[in-house]
Amino acid sequence: DTLVTKQQTLPIPPLLEDKNPAPNKAEFEITARDGTMEFFEGIITNTRGYNGNFLGPVIRVRTGEEVSVKVTNELDESTTLHWHGLEVDGENDGGPHNEIKPGETWNPMFTINQPAATLWYHPHQMHKTGKQVYEGMAGLFYIEDEVSDSLKIPKEYGVNDVPLIIQDRRFDGDGQLDYELGMKDSIVGFEGHTILVNGAVNPFVEAPQGMMRLRILNGSNGRIYNLKFSNGQEFYQIASDGGFLEKPVRMDSLTVGSGERAEILVDFSKVAMGETVELQDQGISFMSFVVNQASDKVYSIPEKLTTIEKIDERKATTKREFNFQGTGSSVSINGVQMDMDRIDEEVNLGSTEIWEVGNFTGQTHPFHAHGVQFQILDRNGNPPPDNEAGWKDTFLVKPGENVRVIATFKHEGIFMYHCHILEHEDAGMMGQFLVEP
Ligand code: C2O
Ligand code: CU
Repeated sequence: DTLVTKQQTLPIPPLLEDKNPAPNKAEFEITARDGTMEFFEGIITNTRGYNGNFLGPVIRVRTGEEVSVKVTNELDESTTLHWHGLEVDGENDGGPHNEIKPGETWNPMFTINQPAATLWYHPHQMHKTGKQVYEGMAGLFYIEDEVSDSLKIPKEYGVNDVPLIIQDRRFDGDGQLDYELGMKDSIVGFEGHTILVNGAVNPFVEAPQGMMRLRILNGSNGRIYNLKFSNGQEFYQIASDGGFLEKPVRMDSLTVGSGERAEILVDFSKVAMGETVELQDQGISFMSFVVNQASDKVYSIPEKLTTIEKIDERKATTKREFNFQGTGSSVSINGVQMDMDRIDEEVNLGSTEIWEVGNFTGQTHPFHAHGVQFQILDRNGNPPPDNEAGWKDTFLVKPGENVRVIATFKHEGIFMYHCHILEHEDAGMMGQFLVEP
């Protein structure tokens, strides 16, 4: 193996500057562009990113804020920019209909109408999502509000409140990103041999001998991670895709499917000064925490995080079924593949619906819908685990499993629902729903 991993600290994506000084307004500029990275000693790898070489800046907004973003496409092909998890109108959602041609600018505008959460953004160009995300196009989108302000949890960006964008990649002999889909990749979704965190191979981060908040995004095309710390220590999940859970959930391993987010609190106060704790997927380490910073603040695990009003099942006026079917190039939802010109489901604006997602295939798929946050009612008739008892926009559905979710559809327009294994999405495991009065 000629590729030598560069020893490096965990890159922390910059916070994107808000160009509008008004308190309740924000204006951002994002440019999709080509770049290069040095993942390995002396090797230049061609990549893509937003405002930089790989991945993009963190966009941080507040609930109630009016946001305008100028998205410029400097790539040599069309792209879109989708706000994964954001509750906005279809026009501003950045799905496949919001194509930005090379050299053009798209200017979505929306008001933030949901609680504090860790969301993300990525391209959604028809048949190109997998490739463009793989090349490096993705970033985090933070929403803050009075609840996140008032909680006594770590909040120093990049110091004790640290984003972890976890992605797997394959590199060819020249150190270039390899997205040649083999038979297995197009069937089960892409799996790489090398895990990147925030765009670095096996990075380390200096950690306080105390509490750390990690905002985890599984930004991989297809891989499902099962995360644990090498010392076996427990941690607490405090947020799911769409915001804080009501209470921290104690756990010793965390499963995250492609597209899902989880915020956790991990307490390194019992780790000896100078010791290293590794973060592992199925027992294999891919980043390390070097506990060498004195912790000046003392945090404890909050008793309560927020209040989540349960959506009453009796409010649902419609029940729909979505079934994952097929394999390889014939993957579908309900037996049909994505067609830009066909609306699959029509939803009344303001209505509450129950969606029942089944899986008639031999593998687990993450179901995701745009413009809405769900509550999971049950999995095979049983209440969801505690760490899924909050807002979810992406959830795993195992073979043979039946997951019932509920949501209120508050935004108009055309939205996608799909498998978040990007090779499946690109192959057509996607459909469209129209929300209108
Ligand atoms: Cu994260 Cu339709 O996407
Ligand atoms: Cu799938």
